[in-house]
Amino acid sequence: MRVLVTGGAGYIGSHTCVELLNAGHEVVAFDNFYNSSPKAIERVEQITGKKITFYEADMMDMAAMNRIFDEQQIDAVIHFAGLKAVGESVKKPLMYYKNNLEGTLTLCEAMQNHGVKRIIFSSSATVYGEPAFLPITEDCPKGVAASPYGATKMMQEEMLTDFHTADPEWNVILLRYFNPIGAHPSGLIGEDPEGIPNNLVPYISQVAVGKLPELGIFGNDYPTPDGTNIRDYIHVVDLARGHVLALKKLAEEPDVRIYNLGTGQGYSVLDVFHAYEKAVGHELPYSFKPRRAGDVVSCYADPTKAEKELGFKAEFGIAEMCRDAWNWQSKNPNGYRD
Ligand code: NAD
Ligand code: WQD
Repeated sequence: MRVLVTGGAGYIGSHTCVELLNAGHEVVAFDNFYNSSPKAIERVEQITGKKITFYEADMMDMAAMNRIFDEQQIDAVIHFAGLKAVGESVKKPLMYYKNNLEGTLTLCEAMQNHGVKRIIFSSSATVYGEPAFLPITEDCPKGVAASPYGATKMMQEEMLTDFHTADPEWNVILLRYFNPIGAHPSGLIGEDPEGIPNNLVPYISQVAVGKLPELGIFGNDYPTPDGTNIRDYIHVVDLARGHVLALKKLAEEPDVRIYNLGTGQGYSVLDVFHAYEKAVGHELPYSFKPRRAGDVVSCYADPTKAEKELGFKAEFGIAEMCRDAWNWQSKNPNGYRD
């Protein structure tokens, strides 16, 4: 298939481009590089030995979106582009609602103008809020959005569902990611946050490489075995492969299909920290800090539906996730910046 990957230079987008190219798909991608680097695209081409048709473009730019669909015969869209920093979204809600919602509406209007009605959307386990039960199945009721970022994910899910209701030819897959971490085993692409990382593994990576003094663990008094929060971490390469499998599903009868992409295995913050220490080969500094506002206690998937319907099963465990995160960080201590 010829697939349009929005946000293709980003963390998950770049890894998905690799898996799409390896699976024999043609990739057209765009990004405005708000949170990424053109180098990611070069490195994807280096890893695969294949070319991406790339556009530097903003998804809020209607003319640019129409141009891409005019010039390329797109079969399906995988939609990653968006702003994703939870804390920043609380401070800059206007920017988040505008970029994520207006951007998605503009993209979908261009799709509609060109009769392209197949889309895979990057949603998030954040839509479950404080989960009603564990492990989380796709039937778990959606929770209250803990941030404007989370609200944009819920609204985008609803928008895409409404498009299908109004026009049943729209074929929509909502992938709810749990906690993607790690990097491509080549060490050529990985997660490259701007400034001080907000997320756990990028933060530990910077402690390990000596850029930050210690990890602050947000809370050790949660009702979990070691008192720290539990999450379902998934290797980004497994997550990327989930998109290739989802593309196959788009060949079936149009519908709105929802899948959790996780491993089904929960790990605490301390579990991840110690797994990362093993990957590095020595102990790392940390201390306990107060709880972080908005954190849910535990969040992990029941991955049965994705396994049954997509044939998706995560291959990598926490040791490989930390090994590959460290491989990327130690080879690229400044990310894509020279
Ligand atoms: P990322 O920031 O690395 O990638 C997003 C890409 O979109 C970036 O390259 C950015 O420059 C681009 N972008 C943003 N706004 C744009 C616009 N208006 N026009 C064009 N490009 C634009 O983030 P990621 O971690 O790769 O996440 C990809 C998607 O998956 C996002 O939608 C995110 O919300 C979602 N998601 C991520 C996680 C996670 O933990 N990383 C979890 C659940 C869902
Ligand atoms: C994981 C655990 C922290 C940093 C976020 C978004 C979610 C989704 C994935 C996009 C928590 C603890 C963290 C640190 C710590 N993204 N932690 N010290 O919050 O589960 O999910 O990313 O959709 O929507 O909310 O991920 O990596 O920030 O935190 O102790 O310096 O690590 O408290 O328990 P989270 P995270």
